[in-house]
Formats: sequence, C-alpha cells, structure tokens
Amino acid sequence: MKVITPPIKSQGIKTKLVPWIKDILPNEKGTWVEPFLGTGVVAFNMRYKQAILNDTNPHIIQLYQEIQEGTLTSQMVKIYLEKEGNKLRNAGNEGYDHFRFIRDRFNDNPNSLDFIFLSRAGFNGMMRFNKKGHWNIPFCKKPERFAQAYITKIVNQVINVSYVIKPEWKFYNKQFSDIIPLAKKGDVIYCDPPYYGRHVDYYNGWTEDDEELLFNQLRDTDAKFILSTWHHNDYRKNEMINKFWSKFNIITKDHFYHSGGKIENRRSIVEAVVCNFDLGEEIAEHNHGIDEKSK
Ligand SMILES: C[S@@+](CC[C@H](N)C(=O)[O-])C[C@H]1O[C@@H](n2cnc3c(N)ncnc32)[C@H](O)[C@@H]1O
Repeated sequence: MKVITPPIKSQGIKTKLVPWIKDILPNEKGTWVEPFLGTGVVAFNMRYKQAILNDTNPHIIQLYQEIQEGTLTSQMVKIYLEKEGNKLRNAGNEGYDHFRFIRDRFNDNPNSLDFIFLSRAGFNGMMRFNKKGHWNIPFCKKPERFAQAYITKIVNQVINVSYVIKPEWKFYNKQFSDIIPLAKKGDVIYCDPPYYGRHVDYYNGWTEDDEELLFNQLRDTDAKFILSTWHHNDYRKNEMINKFWSKFNIITKDHFYHSGGKIENRRSIVEAVVCNFDLGEEIAEHNHGIDEKSK
C-alpha cells in the first residue's frame, strides 16, 4: 500500500507499522479515535470520514488545525522553506546560527512554520521538549538541509495531508483520558502512548499510573480498540504486558532499526498490538519482521 507520510517527524513515528495496523482493522465504520496522535501518520492512512484526534503537544494540533482550516497552505510552506532554507545555507557556524534563531523565535512565539522547520532540521528527525516546553533537539548540522528536492517533498506532504484531513475531523489538545470516553460502539480507538520507561519529555511523561488508567478506560469502552506497544527488546521485556494487557489479544512483529550505518548498531525491538476483538487465525499467526533504516 502507498503510505501517506506527514510533514513532521518524530522518533515514535509508526510509518512502518501502518500496513500492519490496516491489515487488522475491524470492520467498524464509525469514528476513528486517536488520543495520542503524534505525527498523525496512522490516522492519515486509515481514511475514516469521522475522526477525533488528540495530543498533549499543542504544536501538532495547531499545525493540523491550520491545514484543515486552510490558514496554512502548501504554498506558504514552500515560500517559507525557500526563504529560511536559504538563510540556513548562508548562516554562520555552518548554519547553526540560523537554526538557533528559528528555535528561539519558536520558543518565544510558537508557530506552525517554524515547527515544521525544526522538525525537519533537527537531529535524526527527533522531537523533544524540555521542562519549559521549549524545543530541545539540536541541529542536524546540514546547512544544505532545505535543498529544492527536500522542500518539494515536504510541500507534497502538506498537500497530501490537506487532502486526507476531512472538514468533519475534530482536533483536541487534552489528556488521553478526556478523549477515550468520547468513543462509542461502532468506533475504533487507536492508542499509541509513550512507551513506558522510554522517551520522556515535557509532552511525553508516562508512568505506570497512566498505563493503568489507559487499561481501565480501554477495558470499559464499548468501541473496538487497537493499542500499539512494545513486547520486548534485546535486553528486557515490557512489564506492562503481563501487568495489564495479557487479558486481550496480542500479536507481535519484529522491528529492526539502525542507529548509524554499521551492522553492529542494528537493534531490534518486538512491537506488539493489543486489541479487544478477534483477529482471524491467519493474521494472528502472521508475524514477519520489518527493517527500518533510521534517517
Ligand atoms: C508514541 S507518540 C505517537 C506516535 C504516532 N503514532 C505517530 O506515528 O507519529 C505518543 C504521542 O502521545 C502524546 N502524549 C503523551 N502523553 C499524552 C497524554 N497524557 N495524553 C495525550 N497525548 C499524550 C505525545 O505528545 C506524543 O505525540
């Protein structure tokens, strides 16, 4: 399947898992409810007419609301990236001076164009915010980052996303626990919470109490749910599986990723999806690996 990719990136992005999630989708035609939206890649590829999309990160929600309203257009993104990309190319300290200028401007007065810039010029496509909610990822050290081909790619991503976001979709900037109760019978809830014990930051704190609250809400919902989580990696198991999720259906998939090009830096994590509906036997037994090269 052709996967629509969003104009922002993050370390938890589920692009590689989209076909897998699509494979196991139950046949429910209600509302797609996604309390941990992140980059939006999963919602954008499921093609529901109605959706409730939420994230505690206000910048993500603002970006997609502006695209939905048409107050942020692909043309604006193009003009902006050509202008700022040119300044980056010519800035002192191999571009770092201009990266810092954009970062400080965004931290003082957040706006969606600078948010896209930071997401695409930050180290390794990561997104992280410090205790004050300020951008906390360094420059990728590529003054030529916004070459014309890269700008075209991002602009096309904005165009694609503007087509798939429907006027009926509702965006929220709340806690997940305010969103899950909005789901009704006939809806599908897709949850991709921060992985317990990993990637903690201002918008991503995640404790065992959060996992328990999520469990209680998903146990009690009348909707169908799919939860993305991790099962184990080379070193340890996800203890939340036994504690909460083993009561539901679980399927796993090996996921390989690379930090840098060297083969010895290849790591694996076994991803899991947990759901409250029956998966056909064929799907339940289907467990093949996917290999991701980090950007
Ligand atoms: C693992 S990421 C989701 C990634 C997404 N599936 C994708 O493919 O890009 C988790 C997201 O949950 C958000 N988040 C963290 N804690 C939250 C909470 N308590 N309620 C709602 N959203 C939360 C984070 O800001 C982050 O964007």
